[in-house]
This record gives sequence, C-alpha cells and structure tokens, in this order.
Amino acid sequence: MLRNKPQATKTKSSARKVTKLTKKTVKRVSKRSQSTAATPISSIMDVNKLTITHNPKPKAKVPLKDLKFGHTFTDHMLEIDFTPEEGWGAPRIVPHGPLSLDPAASSLHYGLQCFEGMKAYLDDDKNIRLFRPEMNFKRMNSSADRLLLPRIDENGALKCLEKLLQTDKSWIPDQYGYSLYLRPTLISATPFLGVAPPTHAKFFVIASPVGPYYPTGFAPVKLLADPQYVRAWPGGTGNIKCGGNYALSIRPQRMAMERGYQQLLWLFGEDHQVTEVGTMNQFWFMKSKKTGQEELVTAPLDGTILPGVTRDSVIKLARSWGINVREEAYTIGEVLDAVNDGRMIEAFGTGTAAIVSPVKALGFDGKDYDIPIDAALNAGKLTNKIADTLQDIQFGKTPHEWSKVVM
Ligand code: COI
Repeated sequence: MLRNKPQATKTKSSARKVTKLTKKTVKRVSKRSQSTAATPISSIMDVNKLTITHNPKPKAKVPLKDLKFGHTFTDHMLEIDFTPEEGWGAPRIVPHGPLSLDPAASSLHYGLQCFEGMKAYLDDDKNIRLFRPEMNFKRMNSSADRLLLPRIDENGALKCLEKLLQTDKSWIPDQYGYSLYLRPTLISATPFLGVAPPTHAKFFVIASPVGPYYPTGFAPVKLLADPQYVRAWPGGTGNIKCGGNYALSIRPQRMAMERGYQQLLWLFGEDHQVTEVGTMNQFWFMKSKKTGQEELVTAPLDGTILPGVTRDSVIKLARSWGINVREEAYTIGEVLDAVNDGRMIEAFGTGTAAIVSPVKALGFDGKDYDIPIDAALNAGKLTNKIADTLQDIQFGKTPHEWSKVVM
C-alpha cells in the first residue's frame, strides 16, 4: 500500500472564520490528519474491494437517431470517496443518480474540481474498447496536482472504470460512429468555506451514449476570432481540465453563435496568438510562407493549451505520414496571410467529443475569410483522412496499440 503525502491542515486563523459546524469538522479533520500522519492511508483505488448495486429500475434505451450529446445517461455510475483518514475508500458501482455532498463542499464554491472526457466503443466482435485511456487518467492527475486535489490511482481507476463498462455494456451503442462518452470527474468534498487545499474528495464516472457532437454531424463550422475574451494565460489553468476553463467560455460562445458563427477561436496577447477553438485544439494545414512546403500548424503546449489526447494522436499520425507538424506560437495575422496568399489548404479542431471538426470560414475584425473545403467530403482531404483513420483505430477496425480491449 502506498502512502499519500500528509494533507495540508488549516491554520488557526482561517479555521476561526468558519461556522460552528464547519469549525468542528475542520478541527476533526486536522486532528485526525495530524494523528494519522504516520498511518498508511490508501492511495490505491482497489478494484478487489469494488461493490456493485444494480439499478432496480433500468431505463429504456434511447434510439441512436434520437441521441443528443450528453443528454442520456446509463443505469450506473462509479463512485470512490477520499478521506484524510483512509485515503481512497472502496469503489462502488451504484445506480446513476444524485450525489450526496455537503453544500459547503469547496468544489461547489471555489471550483475545486477537474474532469476528463473519454469514450468506449463496441467493435465488430462486440468487444468493449477504450482509446488511450491511460492518457486521460495521467492528465487527471496533472489537473489534481494543480488544484491540490488527491491524486487518483491511474491503474486502479482504469480497472474500476472497466467494471462500470462491463456493468453498462448494453448501453454502448453498437454502431460505427456512436460510442459511450465517459466523464471521470474529481471534486473536492471538503466541507469548509475557507479557501484552502481540499482534504476530502470524490471521484466519480458517469457514462452517456453519444453520436456526433454537433447536431449537424461531421459538417464544417464557421469560427469567430474576437480578442475581447481570453481563455487562458501564462501561469493560469489553461493546460488542465478544470471546470472553470469551460465556465468562462459559455458567454463568449453564445456571443459567437449570436453573430452567426459556431465556435470561438481563442486569441491571446497583443499580437493575437491563436490558442484553441471552443473546447478543442486547433490545427491549420497550410503552405509555409518561408519554405512553400506544406505543414500542419498548432499551438505548442506552453502551459496555456490543453494537452488533448486527440491533439497528440493527430500529431503522431500526421508525422507518421511524413507531414511536417509545427507546434509553435502563431498569430491570427499569420493565418489570415495564409488565407489571403492562397496558402491555406484546410483547417480543423480536435477533441474527444467531436474527434475532428472541419472549419469552413473564419471571422475576424468584421470580415469573413473562407477556408478551403472539399465539397464532396464536406471537409478538407487531410481532415477527412484523420477522422477516418482515428475512428477506424477507435472501433478496432485498424489494429493499433492506442485501442485497448476491455477484458
Ligand atoms: C472534448 O471534446 O475534449 C471536450 O472537452 C468537450 C467537452 C467539454 C464536451
């Protein structure tokens, strides 16, 4: 059994400010965490201790054609609680339903939470498959580190997730292009209103059968670049998957939609560097101004960009096809230059939910710029090839180390 680092305890002055009930809780927590500092607490999410409570009222399945992203949930969910006394407790698969959480839980007040997005697929032999799941759990720990949430046990969490998938296997859509979207989430359950490191936490996974992310399916979108709003900045949280990064995007996203665009292209700095698009990483396939050679351009992982699993997969695939990938800071000016010079070949966003999202136009400073699209494909040729290749790997049609069968 591994040992967790001792949890940070509250200072007397910060504890003094809280209500009577919370004060007691804080005292109890700090006393216990001091007294158990030398006691092994579990950093293991032990699949051998997992219990399953089957849902007594399984729901009727929604026909695939009626699925809307993130609206339908399976019959079960996975829950694992962390306390400073015991560390990670016994994992539980329980009927999908409301969580029991103290209203003082600091995740509800200070956004002390992070999440992941991943998908499970059913292959032609009815095996359950996951796509590079270890990357999601590794990234969740990088988010946890930034927020001082307890680290998850990456192997244990995966094994428990696999049990959830076996329990809810009948919910995994049996059709190419459809999958079970998984939402592992890690929240502070610490009942304390002081702005302080969390001591108690909850890890849970809910699951939702999905088809295409956009109601329009694999259709090209129009982006709006407006420097008025900024997604992330150096030293911030742009490189982790915390809810706050998404909360701040909702108003600008509505503004973009009201102006006739589907997604917002995020800019940063006085020179308007392009960072991300909506909730995705952004790629441009263009001819280099310097060399005239084709290159795939995307922003670098400089601390402001989410290290997307799809982003990484696209970069690796493109390089394996001999494409020059340039992960470097670039500005909206460079993008518009490429469009104006006829050097822009195509553009797309990448993310777990949409996988690949082709781009057909870009609005900036009151003017719209067309991005080339192959009309027959409804996307650029490379965009289309990447989307097909990734899906064939995800559904196990093309054997690849990235796609793992759940045993
Ligand atoms: C993704 O596609 O990776 C996302 O994070 C989208 C999700 C927030 C709906």
